[in-house]
Amino acid sequence: MGFRTIEELCEELKAKRVSVLAGGGEKAVAKQKAKGKGTARERIDQLLDPGSFVEIDEYVTHRCVNFGLDKSKPLGDGVVTGWGTIEGRKVFVFSQDFTVLGGSLGEKHADKICKVMDLAMEMGCPVIGLNDSGGARIQEAVDALNGYGKIFYRNTLASGVIPQFSVIMGPTAGGAVYSPALTDFIFMVDKTGIMHITGPAVIKAVTGEEVSSEELGGATAHNTKSGNAHFMAASEQECFAQIRKVLSYLPLNNLEDAPCKETTDSVERADLGLRAAVPTNPNKGYDVRDVLVRVLDDGEFTEVQPGWAQNILTGYGRIGGRAVGIIANQAKVMAGCLDINASDKASRFIRHCDAFNLPIVTFVDVPGYLPGVTQEHNGIIRHGAKLLYAYSEATVPLLTVILRKAYGGAYLAMSSKSLGADMVLAWPQAEIAVMGAEGAANIVFKKDIDASSDPAATRLEKIEEYRKAFATPYVAAERGLVDRVIMPEETRRELWLALCGMESKRVGRPSKKHGVIPH
Ligand code: HXC
Repeated sequence: MGFRTIEELCEELKAKRVSVLAGGGEKAVAKQKAKGKGTARERIDQLLDPGSFVEIDEYVTHRCVNFGLDKSKPLGDGVVTGWGTIEGRKVFVFSQDFTVLGGSLGEKHADKICKVMDLAMEMGCPVIGLNDSGGARIQEAVDALNGYGKIFYRNTLASGVIPQFSVIMGPTAGGAVYSPALTDFIFMVDKTGIMHITGPAVIKAVTGEEVSSEELGGATAHNTKSGNAHFMAASEQECFAQIRKVLSYLPLNNLEDAPCKETTDSVERADLGLRAAVPTNPNKGYDVRDVLVRVLDDGEFTEVQPGWAQNILTGYGRIGGRAVGIIANQAKVMAGCLDINASDKASRFIRHCDAFNLPIVTFVDVPGYLPGVTQEHNGIIRHGAKLLYAYSEATVPLLTVILRKAYGGAYLAMSSKSLGADMVLAWPQAEIAVMGAEGAANIVFKKDIDASSDPAATRLEKIEEYRKAFATPYVAAERGLVDRVIMPEETRRELWLALCGMESKRVGRPSKKHGVIPH
């Protein structure tokens, strides 16, 4: 019996390595490229710091014998897994390889994904999944479904412990979309990323509706209509740049503080342009981004879900180098009213920031909850309640800046003192009241107006009287519900001081299994 030499064994390993790197072969790779898509390994190389990727499980193969699948046992089983770094910080990744069995998910493919998720949890590092798959591997039947179930279970356990990002770079169909939906953020590449539960053919058969795959589940649909996705990129490269940027604001896990970034932008910078950024006339619109960029370090605001529920903005910025989460009413869209989608968008982002130790800065200019039968019947009560729940539950420092209107229930919902805000700052034009001066005067002074010989003039007089007395920040400040009334240009410095003052915040909550969040 002759033993093989080490040279022969190494040659065999070399051949296996070549086979691993070939993916699904030249033809399938060419087809992938023709669609404008990178290969699974190219994508990892572009996402991670150069040369940092360490692959595991490249020799894993399926053990399915159904429908002739035993004749094709590609190494790696259609998904590339491992870890590497982004800006020197460790992350775990999986990248589905559409050139191998259509990136379809079978038992071993799922096991590979579960292994990197388990490692990411144990090491306390983010996990990034690059999705490009035909879904459950049909030949593997229930083994494939079980594989998805095991991933969903891990997504849920990892939620709030490590950041999880899902990147949609090809088809993601059926129940497969639920893993991305369970993660913190979904990034989609325009024109190649698709997500839907049932595709156009099934929809046509069941409801008779005709729709293209792109219209139904493309990046535009999910970033502007459904609210399922959070970021959209024109190319894979742009998508990776977005991921790297978002990660720069986040700690690697829930036990770490958010990272600090050196800045030359002085916290003492006082921008007088802020005085003109918000009109004192409460009926005039403006773009609240103009306020944000004047306050944040280097004018940098990284928006999350910019295309959906545009009446509220969510995103990240830094003040004095410290990462913060931002929530801001957008006065130029629906006057900044809160509606179902805005409540969903903001409350989820608040919980994300709270889970990952990012102080939350809320910029308030809100006339109220949006009136309407559709809103009421679609559940504005339960959706709006999420906002109250998320702020009340949050234990990170909560800083609030009331720019202008803060009326009624929406005042309370937008990080009010009553819900636990640590520092409430108000600009001089802030109006904290049950409603605007016109509405209030019409009710409070109805008798005087009706009895007047010139009701129109009396009405204007009474509105003015109410505005002077109550449409100000001072009534709330008298009660301690506003901590400081500040000049607009002092906002940056004041927020920095508040961040320093509140950074050691430690508050407890009653011990419980978990709350029952309004749905
Ligand atoms: C096994 C699959 C597959 C799958 C694709 N392939 N999807 N093999 N199981 N789910 C194979 C194809 O047979 C083909 O093999 C290769 O991958 C490339 O696929 P093409 O069809 O040639 O690619 P393309 O034209 O780009 O079309 C992509 C596609 C289409 C739209 C995704 O492949 C497709 O419709 N696939 C089926 C999608 C599906 O119904 N999946 C199940 C969803 S339900 P060859 O050998 O020809 O190269 C689901 C449930 C999850 O996922 C439940 C979790 C709870």
